Amino acid sequence: MSKKIFLNLGRQPVTNSYLNNLKNLNKEYFYDLRVTYNIKNNLVSLANYVKPTMMFNNKYAHRASSSKTMQLHFKKLSNECKKKIKKVKCLEIGSNDGVFIKNFSKKSTVAVEPCSNLANLTKKSGYTTYPVFWNKKISNKILIKHGKRNLIFSANTISHIEKLDEVFISVKKLLDNNGIFIFEDPYILSVLKNNSYDQFYDEHAHLFSYLSVTNLLKKFSLRIFDAKILNVHGGSIRFYICHENAKYKKTRSVSKILTLELKNKINKFQTYKKFANRVKKSKFKLLRILKNIKKKGKVIVGYGATYKSSTIYNYCNINDKLIDYIIDNTKNKQNKFTPGSHIKIIAPKKGLDNKVKYIFLSAWNFKREIINKEINFLKKGGSFITHVPYPRIIKLKDVKNEIS
Ligand code: TMP
Repeated sequence: MSKKIFLNLGRQPVTNSYLNNLKNLNKEYFYDLRVTYNIKNNLVSLANYVKPTMMFNNKYAHRASSSKTMQLHFKKLSNECKKKIKKVKCLEIGSNDGVFIKNFSKKSTVAVEPCSNLANLTKKSGYTTYPVFWNKKISNKILIKHGKRNLIFSANTISHIEKLDEVFISVKKLLDNNGIFIFEDPYILSVLKNNSYDQFYDEHAHLFSYLSVTNLLKKFSLRIFDAKILNVHGGSIRFYICHENAKYKKTRSVSKILTLELKNKINKFQTYKKFANRVKKSKFKLLRILKNIKKKGKVIVGYGATYKSSTIYNYCNINDKLIDYIIDNTKNKQNKFTPGSHIKIIAPKKGLDNKVKYIFLSAWNFKREIINKEINFLKKGGSFITHVPYPRIIKLKDVKNEIS
C-alpha cells in the first residue's frame, strides 16, 4: 500500500451538519478521521471519505462572501485574470454564493455548484449555474452548450473531491489551447508549520502541495506554470495550470516553492509522524488553558462556528462545559448546535457582552480581521485564545506581534 496513516483524530461528525436541537442525538453520524501520506505521489489524504451528498447538499451553511477578506481576495484575483486573458470565458467549479464569478460578465460565465441552496443564489442573480457535482458528464454538457473555456477556476473545492483523475480529465477537455486552470486550496506546508490539524475534516479529502499536484497532473499532459502561497484560509496554495504545450513559461515562484517544500521535507513520511506528535501536545495544552479559565468561573466564547473547529472540539472533547457558546455572523448557522460537540451558536450581537472575557479564536484564519473588529474587547481587558501555531492567550499588548 502506498498510503500510510500518520494521524488519528478520532470519531468525527459531518462538519456541516449543524443541529437544530439536541433531540435524537443517537442518530448523529460519525466516522473515523485518519490522515494518510502517499509515498508514491506525496499526496496527503483522508483514510475514509464521507459520501459527498452528506456534506454538500441544500443545507450547506458556509457563505464565502461572509468575510471581507475573502471578497477582496477574489476581487484581486479576478482583476489579475482579466489582465492575463482577453475576453474571459469563465467556468467556476464550486461557485458557492458567487463571490468570485460576480466579478465577471453573466453572459460568458458558467458555474457548477452542487449545493442547490447556493446554486439558486447565483442563478437568481443571472449566472448560468448547474446544481451538480463536477464530473465528466457535466463537463461534456458544458462543452456542447457553452464551448471551451479560457479560464477555469476553483477555490476550496478540488480538495473536496475524492476522485482527482476525473477532475483533471474533465478540466483538460474543456480548457482552451492557451486557457488557464487556476485552483486554490489549503496548503499542506502551512498545516505542518502552523500545527493546524483542524484543516483535516470531512470536506478536505486531500491537502495539496506543489509536489503532489505535479505528480497528479503528469498523466494528463497538464502542467503547473505558476504557483502562489496565499495567507487565506490559514495558508493556501494557488496553482496556475495549462496544457503541456501551451504558451506559458514556468515562473521563478514555482522553483522557489519546490525548494521550500523539499527543505521542509514534505516528501518524507517522518515529517508527518513528527507533526502527529505535535498535534497530541497541542490538544493537551489547549485543554489545560481552557480548563484553568473555567476553574475561575469565567465565560469562554468561540468566535466563528467554522468547519475546522469541529475537528478541534471533537478531537479534544470540548463541549459547552468549556466553551459556553459560539458567535457567528452566518445567519443559517445561528440558533443551531455544533455537530458532535453540541455547543450553541448565536448571533455576535447577542453574544458579546461585558461578561465575556475570553474568546476562543475558532476562526483563527481570520485573526487579523477579527482582532481589528474586536479591538475594543481587548482594550476592555478581554483576551483571545488560539491554538495556532501553539495554544496561548493573546492580550492587547500582544496585538502588534500577532497581526504584523
Ligand atoms: P471559514 O473559516 O470556514 O471561512 O468560516 C469562518 C466562519 O466564521 C464563518 O461561519 C463566518 C464566521 N465569521 C464571523 O462570524 N465573524 C467574522 O468576523 C468572520 C471573519 C468570520
